[in-house]
Amino acid sequence: MADEEWAERQRQLTAAGLLVLGKAAQSRIQRLSDISSLIEAAQRSNVTMLNERAVEEMLTLVPTEETIDAPPSTPRSEQATLPNPESQSTFGRTLAPVGTQVLAPPVRRHGLDHYSLDDFPMLAKDVDAEIEIHFDITGRSMTEGKMQDIRSCFSDRLRQIRQMMISGRSLPRRPISISEAWRNRQRYSSRDYEVTLVGLVSTEGWARTGTLKFDIEDETMEVRCLLKPPSGASSLHPALDGLMNDDVVGVSGYFLLDRDPRFFVTDIHMPPLGRHSKAAASESEAVSAAFLSDVHVGSKTFLAPQWEKMIEWFRTDPLARTVKYFVLSGDGVDGVGIYPGQERHLAIKDLFNQYGELARLLEGLPDWVDLMILPGNHDAVRPAEPQPALDPEVQQEYSDAVFVGNPCDFSLHGVRVLSYHGKSIDDFVAGLRSVTYSSPELAMRAMMERRHLAPSWGGKTPLSPEPEDRMVISTVPDIFVTGHVHGHYVGNHKGTTMIHSSTWQDQTDYQRMLGFQPKPCILTIVNLHTHATASIPFA
Ligand SMILES: [Fe+2]
Ligand SMILES: [Fe+2]
Repeated sequence: MADEEWAERQRQLTAAGLLVLGKAAQSRIQRLSDISSLIEAAQRSNVTMLNERAVEEMLTLVPTEETIDAPPSTPRSEQATLPNPESQSTFGRTLAPVGTQVLAPPVRRHGLDHYSLDDFPMLAKDVDAEIEIHFDITGRSMTEGKMQDIRSCFSDRLRQIRQMMISGRSLPRRPISISEAWRNRQRYSSRDYEVTLVGLVSTEGWARTGTLKFDIEDETMEVRCLLKPPSGASSLHPALDGLMNDDVVGVSGYFLLDRDPRFFVTDIHMPPLGRHSKAAASESEAVSAAFLSDVHVGSKTFLAPQWEKMIEWFRTDPLARTVKYFVLSGDGVDGVGIYPGQERHLAIKDLFNQYGELARLLEGLPDWVDLMILPGNHDAVRPAEPQPALDPEVQQEYSDAVFVGNPCDFSLHGVRVLSYHGKSIDDFVAGLRSVTYSSPELAMRAMMERRHLAPSWGGKTPLSPEPEDRMVISTVPDIFVTGHVHGHYVGNHKGTTMIHSSTWQDQTDYQRMLGFQPKPCILTIVNLHTHATASIPFA
């Protein structure tokens, strides 16, 4: 890149309040064909200093051509999302009130250049369904909710994630138990004699000096830790972003032997998460999977006319003939008695009638579409996660659907999908500085990086203490999907396609009060052969 071009880039970065640190960061930025995505990611993450590591981290958040994977086999198309960020976005606008709207016929007769019909040699109706469930708690919940169950759940989490760290080589040396380190604290009391520990976190917050204080505990004992932000650390570094209660982390450092001995952390280690290489469906099974959640049928703010528009699209658009799977990731209905005063927001006040109406609405989908339905926190199942599938009595209303629990780890034609409703995003918003309701993808990133969907016990996410902690992300998925927050996002994190699926509910009073603008009525679809994605707005 010529000097003038770099000067122009620097001018743009400076205007955006960003400072580039070091030659490595500069050359990384010079290799990008466009820096607008990088600027957007940095601004959304409140990053101002771009060293090489910060640039890499930002690039994992935004789908630029740099972070897009070529599919492992024959690449046929590149991943992209709609609408194009440079065009007039249809995302996040205020919708017309339901009932007064005159619906135009669906405007979108495919027309998605990057989501080519040539990539689909077969129609969905000619391809047999291939769903393999790897994990679903339904019928397998083992807990009695006793103290012993809680203890085994946390021991299992610690064991699983520590093992990942050891076998994934994310620790600089073999960890020792906290009690062994404590016994030998005189020896491990200087930078020359560091030791590595792994344990469950209990957060204390930041001291006025900016040092993060937390305890870690393993099977043997607990120790207080101090973590100073390294110079030039990105805002996503745990020292600046924070830790979640009950995270499993590794710490390297030494003891400060004053009146109250503490462990001074020189480096913090998260579980391994390397660059993931996605599996792909074979060419003869090149079909699409569609993702949606939070339909909230029964609520007065359910967007019925827009649903009709989507059904019409399914009937008429050639692209819809490629959609083999429709994954509904929780909150299909608004439920009853979910929050105080909900009744006045309900158009359908009976729970069974809500499920009946959802079944009727889904019946509008063409026969060739296979439905998968997970529960969410508004559904009529136990709220503690992992949640089992909807009750058989409710299932009877649906002629043809696969009911699974939340979360569910499954494969479609060999493509591994992790679908989780996303209730814990509430805890991530409360616990990490980077995460806001308008950036649920940062909560998803945080889940992937700590290899856990909902770490915090006693927060906003009720957890079922299963003897084996099945909220651990033991296998890195090809597609990771959440909902719950009513936003929308499609991107990529270290090779995994990240989808925050859209809702079919308009802004609620509560969201209005919080100033939160949902992004409803967007269907996200993924070609399971090429991994190309498209987001189709129906608002
Ligand atoms: Fe919801
Ligand atoms: Fe929800």
